[in-house]
Amino acid sequence: MTRRVIIDTDPGTDDAIALFLAFASPEIDVALVTVAGGNVGLARTLRNARALVSLAGADVQVVAGADRPLLGRFEDAAYVHGEDGLAGVALPEGRPAERGIAADAIRAALRAAGPEGVTLVGIGPATNLALALATEPALAAHVAEIVLMSGAATRGNVTPHAEFNAWSDPEALSVVLGCGRPVTLATLDLTRQAICTREWLGSLAEAGRCMAAARAIMGSVPMRAYPAGFGHPQHDACAIAWLAAPHLFTHAPVHVGVDLAGETRGRTRITLGEGPARLLERLDSPGFFALLAERLARLP
Ligand code: RIB
Ligand code: CA
Repeated sequence: MTRRVIIDTDPGTDDAIALFLAFASPEIDVALVTVAGGNVGLARTLRNARALVSLAGADVQVVAGADRPLLGRFEDAAYVHGEDGLAGVALPEGRPAERGIAADAIRAALRAAGPEGVTLVGIGPATNLALALATEPALAAHVAEIVLMSGAATRGNVTPHAEFNAWSDPEALSVVLGCGRPVTLATLDLTRQAICTREWLGSLAEAGRCMAAARAIMGSVPMRAYPAGFGHPQHDACAIAWLAAPHLFTHAPVHVGVDLAGETRGRTRITLGEGPARLLERLDSPGFFALLAERLARLP
């Protein structure tokens, strides 16, 4: 079954791989790509999203959105992704972005949704998704599922308590979690099982320009030791892989709360067994990387 999907993103090195995986997956019909500031400022995340969509030959509109969180100050993660957001890998400039703003484009896509609805995938700060849902709550009825790379049940990556997307805009995350539609969460506890290693990178076949770009980007991101291996986590591609190959995951019903104040601001408090959200728990990591290798090779 092909799902119609909107991807909200802040490319971002791992966002780049997630976008490629989405465009290469027949299970996913990408209806729209919306962009927020996050890993780097909006000017660069927008440029990167345009370049990635065009490199993949995807006939998908790219629309710019929020350059800052609902509240609080914008802070980037250039220390991870480089000042350009793609670890210094220069891509040809992509087609221009569509006029307008992300929240309006998301609402228009939801209004136009068929009976199967639209799946919202958030792989950056949730600001655009929150703005779309908060300003026209009735449109949530057209949301089939929300899949977020966000949060951490244990240790964060931007503070000891908080993961970057949740920390960047915890109010937005709260709005999305509270919209009444099913939310599937890929937290750091899941994505740290998806460690891109030099060995795997070395095993990738020669293919098209997207494989070359993916190898260059993943080969340029600093690697370090994780319990699951030496490399770097493919955070955002995990959210896409849930839609392309759900058999790679185990999951459990959870309740998710978000701390909005104090030193734990951005912390996701996850309680197993209560619902209504779904926590992705275990990843078949070899299966994930086999899927990623196979799908990247399909792209131009
Ligand atoms: O914490 C990881 C998340 O923050 C990923 O989405 C990465 O791209 C950054 O946005
Ligand atoms: Ca991201």
